[in-house]
This record gives sequence, structure tokens and C-alpha cells, in this order.
Amino acid sequence: MTTVVKKLVPSAQEKQQIRSLLDEIMKEPGMGNQYLFMEKAALYAQELPRRIREEFYQFKRREESAVLLVSENPVLLNGAGPSPSKHIEIDPEYRLNDAKILHGLYGSLLGEGIGFTSQREGSIYNNIVPLKDYSKIPNSSGGSNLDFGFHVEDAFHPARAEYLGLVCMRNDECAATTVSCIDGIELTPEEKRALFELRFKISHNPIHSTSNVVEETSQAILFGHEDMPYVKINAARMNLDEYQGVERRALEKLLHHFEQNRVAMMLKPTDCIFVDNYRCVHARDSFEANYGEGARWLARVVFASNLRKSRTMRDSVATRAINA
Ligand SMILES: [Fe+2]
Repeated sequence: MTTVVKKLVPSAQEKQQIRSLLDEIMKEPGMGNQYLFMEKAALYAQELPRRIREEFYQFKRREESAVLLVSENPVLLNGAGPSPSKHIEIDPEYRLNDAKILHGLYGSLLGEGIGFTSQREGSIYNNIVPLKDYSKIPNSSGGSNLDFGFHVEDAFHPARAEYLGLVCMRNDECAATTVSCIDGIELTPEEKRALFELRFKISHNPIHSTSNVVEETSQAILFGHEDMPYVKINAARMNLDEYQGVERRALEKLLHHFEQNRVAMMLKPTDCIFVDNYRCVHARDSFEANYGEGARWLARVVFASNLRKSRTMRDSVATRAINA
């Protein structure tokens, strides 16, 4: 099994330390605002317990685990409140709860929270709740009735983030989040060469309403070092019939590898997970949604190891919204 999930539970003492840090942050004016908070998150994250900071650093540095899962976090002590019924993050009055703030602190140990102009007005935080209107839209984070197939988050975009973070407010439906890691992929030299070439289409998912600033038609699926390649693919929107010969064989092997190595995780309230978005694909199987106040509720933030590399795609130094 190549999809290693590293699990972390803060000790009683660490929970106290985390809780007092959160209380301090939440007393500071403006920290419920996602954009103001994210400017301070990297600073405050240095005050998380050292053992936890070390685990995040090793996750980033060693590239051994596919996922880092932190459970039993000292947040949502009075429950999560009702699940939202719309995309609340685009409201100027939108405020973060303590679970999202802690998730942002953890993620800031890996990188900078970013958004895309094509997705909910560049919002950094995206709430994921099944919405009736979206239930039958394939590959949508608001969907539920249809499987959401394997994909790298924002696979189509050259500035996609290295880490995908999710925090769970509620998952009474026990919907599984599935992750699979490319480590250990077996390909012939010819198949591998093909996947490293600009021969594939990588489409965006419906959550992005792109203005076609990104070239999607001639992309490589693999990149990085050829001995331990990184991957970008949106299998959820890929039509295998468009490929023949070595390209088709290579894609089929890759998808088979992901099927064989998939790990399903049932997120519980307060769980924070971080997926290596260079080495892993993720998916969500279809589920029977509880619509309304008790619906499955996650929030997603993606973390890029650096903001400078996307500077040409951001309209100002200050913004975290990447043009798409
Ligand atoms: Fe996703």
C-alpha cells in the first residue's frame, strides 16, 4: 500500500495549548475575516505545539505520507451550528469558526492559503455542503448523487497548490473521502515518457467558471523527477476514448494503480486533513445526502508552498486569488 495516512492526535496538554492560542486569536478584531486571518496565520502557527509543527514539517519535507490527518481537535465545543444552505463565503459578512481557524493554522505550516478568481470570487475558504440544485451535477463539490471521480485539486491550473486541506464540521451521512498516491507506480519507459509529454487534456471541474486563461489541451500528466514522478490529472473529466496506443495504456495503468491503492477516510467533526496534491488524487463516492441544517459540511483550503511563483497570475502582491 503506497497511500500512507499519518494520523496525529494532540495530547491533553497540546489541546490546552491549542485552545488558548485559538481563544487569543479569536479575541483579536478582524480574525474571523478569512482574508485578514490568513495574513496572520503563518505567524500564529509558530505558536502551535512543537511536536505538531515537527509532524507537519516532516510531512512536507520527506514526501513519505500521502495524507496527514489531525483528529480530536479542541474546536466546535458547542457543536458546529447549522450547515449552510448556500455559498456563504462570498458574503462580505462571512466569518470563520474556530475549526476553520485551526485548520488554517495547521495549513500555514505547509504553505500559503490561496484562492482562484474563477471559484467563488477568489475565496480562500470554500464550504462544501450538498445542495439539492447541484445533486446531479457530476464532479461538483455541492453534488452527492454521483461519484466525484479521482482528481488532483485544480489539476488544470499551472499554479495549483501542493496541499489540499479539508476540515470537517459534520458528516452524519458517513460519506467517505478517498485518496490514492502515485508512489510505486509501475510503467514501461515508453509509457512513462508519454505521460511526461504535453499530450493530454486536463479539464477544469464545474466549481471553476474559468475565463479560459489556462491552456487545458496540451498538458503532461507526470512531472518532477522521473524516478518518483508527481502527477496532475482530472480523471473525473477525462475521456479515455480520446487516447490510443501507448497513451491509452499508460493512462489505464495509472488509473488502475489509483484504484488499487485507494484509501477511504470517513471524516469526523473537528478532523483536519492535508493531502499531498502533487503525489495524490482524491475522490468522493456518491452518498445519500441529508439536505439542510444537518448536511455533511466540510471546508476546503488549498495551500501553496509559495506565493511568488504565482505572482504573474495575481493582480497584486496582496491578493491570494490566482487568475483562472
Ligand atoms: Fe477535489
